[in-house]
Amino acid sequence: MCGIVGYIGYRKAHMVIINALKRLEYRGYDSWGVAVVQGNKLDIHKQVGAIGEIESQEFGEATLGIGHTRWATHGKPSDVNAHPHLDCNGNIAVVHNGIIENYLSLKNDLMKEGHKFVSETDTEIIAHLIEKNNGSLENAVFSAISVLKGSYAVVVISPDERKIVACRNKSPLILGVGDGEFFVASDTPAILEYTNRVVYLEDGDTVVITDSGYEIKNNGIKVERMVELVPWSLDDAEKSGYEHFMLKEIHETPRVIEETIAGHVSDTIELDVSFAAGISELVFVACGTSLHAAIVGKYIIEEMSGIPVRVEYASEFNYHTTPISRSLVVGITQSGETADTLEALRKAKGNGARILAITNVLGSSVTRVADYVIYTRAGPEIGVAATKTFIAQLVALCLVALKLSMLPRSELERFILEMRLLPEKIRKILDEKEKIKEISEILAEFDNMMYIGRGIAFPVALEGALKMKEISYIHAEGYPAGELKHGPFALLGEKTPVIVCIIRDETYDITLSNIKEVKARDSPVFAFSDEKDREIDKYVDYAVKTPEVDRIFAPIVLSVALQLLAYYTARVKGCEIDKPRHLAKSVTVE
Ligand code: F6R
Repeated sequence: MCGIVGYIGYRKAHMVIINALKRLEYRGYDSWGVAVVQGNKLDIHKQVGAIGEIESQEFGEATLGIGHTRWATHGKPSDVNAHPHLDCNGNIAVVHNGIIENYLSLKNDLMKEGHKFVSETDTEIIAHLIEKNNGSLENAVFSAISVLKGSYAVVVISPDERKIVACRNKSPLILGVGDGEFFVASDTPAILEYTNRVVYLEDGDTVVITDSGYEIKNNGIKVERMVELVPWSLDDAEKSGYEHFMLKEIHETPRVIEETIAGHVSDTIELDVSFAAGISELVFVACGTSLHAAIVGKYIIEEMSGIPVRVEYASEFNYHTTPISRSLVVGITQSGETADTLEALRKAKGNGARILAITNVLGSSVTRVADYVIYTRAGPEIGVAATKTFIAQLVALCLVALKLSMLPRSELERFILEMRLLPEKIRKILDEKEKIKEISEILAEFDNMMYIGRGIAFPVALEGALKMKEISYIHAEGYPAGELKHGPFALLGEKTPVIVCIIRDETYDITLSNIKEVKARDSPVFAFSDEKDREIDKYVDYAVKTPEVDRIFAPIVLSVALQLLAYYTARVKGCEIDKPRHLAKSVTVE
């Protein structure tokens, strides 16, 4: 949801910034721009489209600059609406991520005072507010942000002073500390090439950076913040020979499972679940793929521990008043920055709930809101469609379920053993993907499809459909298998294939009946089942078989196969797989 970057040091600023923006492109990719300080003036380059190159002569040797990659909120993608935005004199350049809620009234006031605006964005008012305030750049920025309502990460430069001023409120921003150079960015992959030492800025922080160091103030008061080492390498953020990040990230799944297990299990599960002491229920709040992980978690945790679990869309959570003071509210968010999830957790905390976060990103905003954090260990995910992070969430939720269960030690050990075999089984799916590729060629011809599943396979169907629609642009709906006859049957027929996720548990026979109903309405049926399921071949047109696992791990193996299906279907259609249209990876606006 917009990526922002700032650089001050000894390298050519525009090269560092473009490099960093390319690594942030997953956050927004409709337009981009760079501003550098060249002598006593600003040089700017802005344009619609994917991040390209800038001729070196355009920006020369400048060593101070800022950049932005945009995901449009206010005003359509255009050269003019691209950031950086300037004041009237072209002396102050601003990049911004977030939304200024009171920008219209501020803009009206500024216009009455004679300020002229060129863009439709909310960001442009920040440059004019800074211009209006006297004193040092730092003081002018501080006064400007004090009247803003909403969320922002803002980075400002001016040729008047050799420094960067950057502020954060409810939008992510990190400071990168190099040797004789400093960076600010929306996310760590942007700067990993240069440094792995970062400061996670907090809401209310303003940092002033010069060549010799930096000073952070929180709401005007000087504060010290820890420099932390990012445990990710540059290689994690590269395609490493794969055609797309998504494919690379699916192939990283075995390692991700190993690492997520290693983080919480030795001989036994060492996860600290003291967060669950005395609670009456668990309430999961999440969005998109993370919501689907939550639904899987509900099935497993209720079954294993008997603790009631509710799952709520984070974006709807604040609109009802179910009591939650004795609940453990669990935010699942791989990025740790999703605004809807953060707002839901803040409200829950305000109402007295205990908060647990399950996230993939160290130092992310959700870790500040939460009382307890469980980290998944998926490494950075660059492809916009969540894949390996979803699997890591499922592994973490299985561990929570097992730890909360009353199972005897021997049973627990059996599950741990099974879990440790998962990476090998996933490798088998990855090695034997020909059948999935074959099916994807057939599915790519359709405009609509249904995904169905029962019980624990139902959220797998939801997630399979989400993956398919977001990267192949084929309309795909996920449904409980029993629900199709309550309306969606009207859509069935030869032109609407049905993808069935089926598990050999108590839902098996009834799902077979549902398949027969679907076949009777002429829909082609594609089943995803396990290798021991011989029966299914009699009922469906195509069957993909995954390795046999204990049923609580079935969502993990089935989901990897469905991720590959979405990937290859989108590839047949020639879609922009890593950057699907209109989407952004980290959705930092509500
Ligand atoms: C889909 C996808 C999104 C995210 C959702 C929540 O592939 O990636 O649906 O799952 O935006 O993101 P996080 O987990 O970062 O809160």
